Amino acid sequence: MMKMFGSFLAFVIVVDAISSANGANIIISLLVPGESSHAKGMSAIGGALTRRGHNVTILTSSTVGTKGFQKDDYNKAVQYKFQLPPDMPDMETLEKDFINLAFESDLKKKVKVMGMIFSVMRIGCQSLLDDSATLTLLKESTFDILIGDSFDGCDALLSSYLGIPFIAVTTGTRYPLFNEHTYGVPTPSSYVPFGFFPFSDKMSFCERVGSFLEHHLIAKLLGWSHFGALNEVKDKHGIAPGRSIPDLLGEAELWMCMTSFAFDFPRPTTPNWIELKGLTDIPVKPLPQDYADFVDGSGDHGFIVFSLGTHFSELPKPGMAEAFARVFSELPQRVIWRYTGPRPRYLGNNTMLVKWMPQNDLLGHPKARLLIYHGGLAGIYEAISHAVPMVIMPIFADQPSNAVRVEAKGMGRVIEKDSITYETVKEAVVDVLENPSYLENIRRYSGIYRDSITKPDDVVGFWVEHILKFGGSHLRSRALELSFIQLHSIDVLAFIVGIIAVIVFLLYTCCKRCLSCCLKSKKTKIE
Ligand SMILES: *[C@@H]1O[C@H](CO)[C@@H](O)[C@H](O)[C@H]1NC(C)=O
Ligand SMILES: *[C@@H]1O[C@H](CO)[C@@H](O)[C@H](O)[C@H]1NC(C)=O
Repeated sequence: MMKMFGSFLAFVIVVDAISSANGANIIISLLVPGESSHAKGMSAIGGALTRRGHNVTILTSSTVGTKGFQKDDYNKAVQYKFQLPPDMPDMETLEKDFINLAFESDLKKKVKVMGMIFSVMRIGCQSLLDDSATLTLLKESTFDILIGDSFDGCDALLSSYLGIPFIAVTTGTRYPLFNEHTYGVPTPSSYVPFGFFPFSDKMSFCERVGSFLEHHLIAKLLGWSHFGALNEVKDKHGIAPGRSIPDLLGEAELWMCMTSFAFDFPRPTTPNWIELKGLTDIPVKPLPQDYADFVDGSGDHGFIVFSLGTHFSELPKPGMAEAFARVFSELPQRVIWRYTGPRPRYLGNNTMLVKWMPQNDLLGHPKARLLIYHGGLAGIYEAISHAVPMVIMPIFADQPSNAVRVEAKGMGRVIEKDSITYETVKEAVVDVLENPSYLENIRRYSGIYRDSITKPDDVVGFWVEHILKFGGSHLRSRALELSFIQLHSIDVLAFIVGIIAVIVFLLYTCCKRCLSCCLKSKKTKIE
């Protein structure tokens, strides 16, 4: 009887859990103020979930709003009030300062601006937790789960405040404040570069020293200083007393990482780490007429796409634009160049300057031969998806380490922004255009990228619903519950070494005793 009742109860619980996965109430957070470059990915996750009948609310700062989100990807948008203190420059100035860092050589200025960026993140989190009207609204909404862009740890605080589980989302780049170390995933520094330095997975001795330091010193110092400041905010609001912010981050039920091993280096993962590739890919649309006319007239030579994104569409150093323009003027291909600076000398009639371009649609055109690019992830994935080889001129942030991946996999070449001349550009561009290995490699990786048993929407839907039904404890390794000494078996090694030492000592004393006995008996015999 009891047994029957027990199984009935289990049945009810399972049915209840499964039905709660249908039409769940989900909050998607993008809390870093001013950071809308991750909005596209978070929006796509929202879209995958709304299409499966879930109710999605997005939470952003008042400075970001719904920028970068598609209207159909969410049901409701909530913004927390964000304002910088009067003694700080406004967001626009800060963003400009940050972008200018790319061509800044003064280390002191670099450190100062980076410090401010981290302050902005902390102030963002503080503004959210001080905005009682928004917090009340969120609390009353009784969400089932939070899905957060885990850039700085504030999403973990919010989930703890709301008392709901959370799923961490990252782009393919390793975040300084949320990464394998926070999540208990092993990352051997010997072949997993962290990403601060532009290393590949094949490292020289000196690079391995650098990799060790970026894993165990730089990342730790950044975490220590940022979480130290954020901890005051946490304590002020009485969230999860006695627990650290990295502890809370490590409790994410799942980590969805928007990466693909067609591009990234292979590395150890755990069952609660999910590769989410292709989520933001969109189908190629026909080109606007002026672009279509230009590329259709390029004959068998095809055309080149050159873009450095929104921030660098005006090349900052004199001479750079001239160098590119002159190389292009000598090529048989046509070139579409996103450029807003003064018209360069030597500009050939095969080059079209534009202020904006339909980049994905251009790369998807069968005559696209080469992408010259600053190395942002979005464009690299477009090029991989459409199998267009690349020449990357990385400028800042994650771009140098993205560029290394492109070159290491033979999908293109890297040129250094500080040594741009007619010769360096010409050599790299002609090499990628004429050497067939780049095209062969990128075709192969494009195939790997597209080869999949599931659609990205289904990956998101399946995993979020799986976590809603069962939680994530069955996927979690015990790594984070162990101390450093236990995790690395230092105590076990010490124990084994101790036993060996004792055995060796005992053998030694035994032998010594025996030997002295023998010698003694010999002596007595001789006497
Ligand atoms: C979706 O969730 C939000 C927040 O809880 C709520 O205000 C809204 O009414 C819900 N919409 C639907 C269609 O259930
Ligand atoms: C560019 O000029 C050359 C001659 O100077 C001409 O042969 C060629 O067709 C022109 N190309 C374009 C795209 O107009």
